[in-house]
Amino acid sequence: MLRSRIIGTGSYAPKRAVTNLDIAKLVETSDEWITTRTGIKERRLADGETVSDMASKAGKAALKAAGVSAKDIDLIVVGTVTPEMNFPSTACFVQAALGAKPGAGAFDVSAACSGFLYALDAADKYLRSGSCKRALVIGVDVFSRLVDWSDRSTCVLFGDGAGAVVLSAEKSSHGVLSSHIHSDGRQWEMLYAAGAVKSNPFEKRQDGPGYLKMNGNETFKIAVRTMGSAITEALEASGLAPGDISLLIPHQANMRIINAISERLKLPEDRVYMNLEKYGNTSAGSIPLALDEAVADGRVEAGDIILFVAFGGGLTWASAAVRW
Ligand code: UT7
Repeated sequence: MLRSRIIGTGSYAPKRAVTNLDIAKLVETSDEWITTRTGIKERRLADGETVSDMASKAGKAALKAAGVSAKDIDLIVVGTVTPEMNFPSTACFVQAALGAKPGAGAFDVSAACSGFLYALDAADKYLRSGSCKRALVIGVDVFSRLVDWSDRSTCVLFGDGAGAVVLSAEKSSHGVLSSHIHSDGRQWEMLYAAGAVKSNPFEKRQDGPGYLKMNGNETFKIAVRTMGSAITEALEASGLAPGDISLLIPHQANMRIINAISERLKLPEDRVYMNLEKYGNTSAGSIPLALDEAVADGRVEAGDIILFVAFGGGLTWASAAVRW
């Protein structure tokens, strides 16, 4: 069967590390509150980098790990909600920066923190249909430029980062076994950032302030519920049981959300990957950044079942099961 195999991973996080104590100088908060409520100790914040710089660095690292030339990439899909511009897409900037095959397909996917899994789902379908052979899939966000740095309920949570995978269409029992995307737009007000475009002079319309807004408590509950059901869906579609999961790589939003999901699945700690203490919630960057670290840490071996699950603004949620 033709499957999308992940043949290389890469990531990039800005150098500037900002600790909880640094943030406590900006807003009324404490290391103790942030650590116990979220698990986050520090995050990396962009320091002049553009979103396409970050995406391109992660993409370049993934190509190197895969041993594949940019000229062999015929599709680039970028999950992001913090693009440099309204258009062109970040994927087009990446295509130029990496010197990918001229004429390669390139587009962005907007699904907030589920962006990488939405992008993976789309690319998987192009590869399995035979219309592309090699795809570069990137998740990247720069939420430090979207949060209100005077709002302690959100500014402590997010960081900037990017991660990438190279997918290759191969006749194999390894690769993406199943992937699933979902949304509930009725609940958009749970988590959003308005203000990408401005009103014209002839209309009466309030321009949004542009900052990220979140109903944290409700989002927390919905995240636990929807990510739990998305994991079950991916397992059932792949003929697997929770005990078959070698490593769960969930969206890194909150340690308590990840613990609640793992407990429901009865997954031991060593089968759940967490790196949010170092990066915070990097939105679409979070899963591929965690995957790249897990690979570098030797936590992923051939034949392992890796389960990805995400939740974010939209509302959106998604999952994918992969045999490594
Ligand atoms: O990635 C996309 C999905 N996003 C998520 O999944 C995020 C989901 N939500 C969460 O992770 C959690 O709801 C938060 C971490 C955002 C908040 O944690 P919580 O345990 O739900 O706290 P809370 O919002 O119920 O706030 C508890 C108290 C409040 O004070 P009062 O009203 O009890 O006096 C807040 O004002 O904590 C206060 N608070 C803070 N205190 C110190 C809120 N933020 C802070 C802060 N430092 N940074």
